[in-house]
Amino acid sequence: MAETAQAIRVGSTADIEDGEALVVPADRTGTGDAIAVFHSDGEFHALDDTCTHAEASLAEGWIEDGQVECPMHSGRFCLRTGEALCMPATENARTHPVEVRDGEIWLLPRSGT
Ligand code: FES
Repeated sequence: MAETAQAIRVGSTADIEDGEALVVPADRTGTGDAIAVFHSDGEFHALDDTCTHAEASLAEGWIEDGQVECPMHSGRFCLRTGEALCMPATENARTHPVEVRDGEIWLLPRSGT
């Protein structure tokens, strides 16, 4: 069972433009990895920033239609579920809950799977 840590204030919704992502560094997430918070089509989602295939930052990938394409080898992940959608990515990305309250984005890092 995944464990949810304290909420982290990421910034305001205006801080992440649609199609962009912001990285919360590992020393703030408490999960052992940085977490990327994505803005896609008016929704905010969070995944572990490190691609499950190799060492690449998903936050630097191409964000479109609720998916992120890894900048290294073009593996794609569903932002909502973390599902690996195409090769060479085969392992799903860990997702984390994100809440928007009064225009502020809050991340609830989840340790475990
Ligand atoms: Fe992401 Fe290879 S590092 S697909």
